[in-house]
Amino acid sequence: MPPSLYLLSPPLRSSHRLFFPLFCFFFVSSLILCSLPGSASSPCENPPVIFNFGDSNSDTGGLAAGLGFPVNSPNGRTFFHRSTGRLCDGRLVIDFLCQSLNTSFLTPYLDSLANSNFANGANFAIVGSSTLPKYVPFSLNIQVMQFIHFKARALELVTSGAKGLIGDAGFRNALYMIDIGQNDMADSFSKNMSYAQVIKRIPSVITEIRNAMTTLYDQGARKFWVHNTGPLGCLPQKLSLAQEKELDHYGCLSRYNSAAKLFNEGLLHLCQEMRPQLKDAAIVYVDVYTIKYDLIANSTSYGFSSPLVTCCGNGGPPYNYNIRSTCGNPGSEACRDGSQFLSWDGIHYTEAANEIIASKILSMDHSQPRTPFDFFCQG
Ligand SMILES: *[C@@H]1O[C@H](CO)[C@@H](O)[C@H](O)[C@H]1NC(C)=O
Ligand SMILES: *[C@@H]1O[C@H](CO)[C@@H](O)[C@H](O)[C@H]1NC(C)=O
Ligand SMILES: *[C@@H]1O[C@H](CO)[C@@H](O)[C@H](O)[C@H]1NC(C)=O
Repeated sequence: MPPSLYLLSPPLRSSHRLFFPLFCFFFVSSLILCSLPGSASSPCENPPVIFNFGDSNSDTGGLAAGLGFPVNSPNGRTFFHRSTGRLCDGRLVIDFLCQSLNTSFLTPYLDSLANSNFANGANFAIVGSSTLPKYVPFSLNIQVMQFIHFKARALELVTSGAKGLIGDAGFRNALYMIDIGQNDMADSFSKNMSYAQVIKRIPSVITEIRNAMTTLYDQGARKFWVHNTGPLGCLPQKLSLAQEKELDHYGCLSRYNSAAKLFNEGLLHLCQEMRPQLKDAAIVYVDVYTIKYDLIANSTSYGFSSPLVTCCGNGGPPYNYNIRSTCGNPGSEACRDGSQFLSWDGIHYTEAANEIIASKILSMDHSQPRTPFDFFCQG
């Protein structure tokens, strides 16, 4: 679809498919299930502009662009057949979500040589990002400040006659996605904080996400899509490095996962609290934790044999993770068939896993309120 078709989006038409979920959002309390007839598989004629904020789970090349940090092969070996800056063998969850709307993959905001005018949005997510501390590259509040700059500059250029950029309506109707928090949890543990100290820090992390959403709302954002954080204690990297080794039924670190779950409770609560506060805003919370944990717990039924073993790494069993030779660096080696593995590099999931995770996100079964992703298509 040529950019001009969806850049300056028409005013929202109250067609049946659009009207129904709006009705749910505006008039029915947030947790009531809203399903809408026949829209899940209909093509997205007018994909929304998407702005994404987060960490490596949704970084489509920002680390390489922003810090010049090399992301070497075999990253990108499937699908792209070259390194794209994604820490994955192929596509990330956000790539599959974009594909489901038939919109292009998101370009990293800092990619100065992108073959893109950012007509379909921009990706502010960068590997390693957390919410705290603030004002360091590329914490969530910096990402939001970058967005504000991007928006002001785009509108300025549009006003002076530039074509093919996102205009007022594009920003207003855009989808604002947030997937952050994993590094806040991970950083706390890696600083040797006690479990009690890790937990105590969660409310300030949630406050940062609240600040980000409020700032975006003040900038005109009305559509939010928020991913919770995955089971941190099932990452091979954490399993190989953690000091405490109390494992749950599936071999994951219990405390790490408990902390992740407490963070997720806080995030869910935040979304519920913000719905009446951010008037006319749709806020969808997606329980990615449950999706990923199910994938690990029931890995064999999904066709994965060793859910806690890294495909690309070094060191062999039990986790094939060695911090001194991680994926893409000397000494590491990649498995032959990544589609047999859940973990790509010890921290990030394989494309095969991401495809399943994305399809479960699209199923709406883990969304509150139940909202199809193509709800955000315009008409
Ligand atoms: C997806 O976009 C391509 C062009 O970018 C177009 O040819 C195709 O028809 C679209 N598919 C759907 C299902 O909208
Ligand atoms: C954490 O504790 C372990 C052992 O108790 C120690 O080896 C490591 O250096 C500590 N890390 C930090 C960041 O203090
Ligand atoms: C594993 O799969 C079963 C059957 O679908 C499901 O009931 C269970 O909740 C799953 N386990 C986890 C930990 O998600």
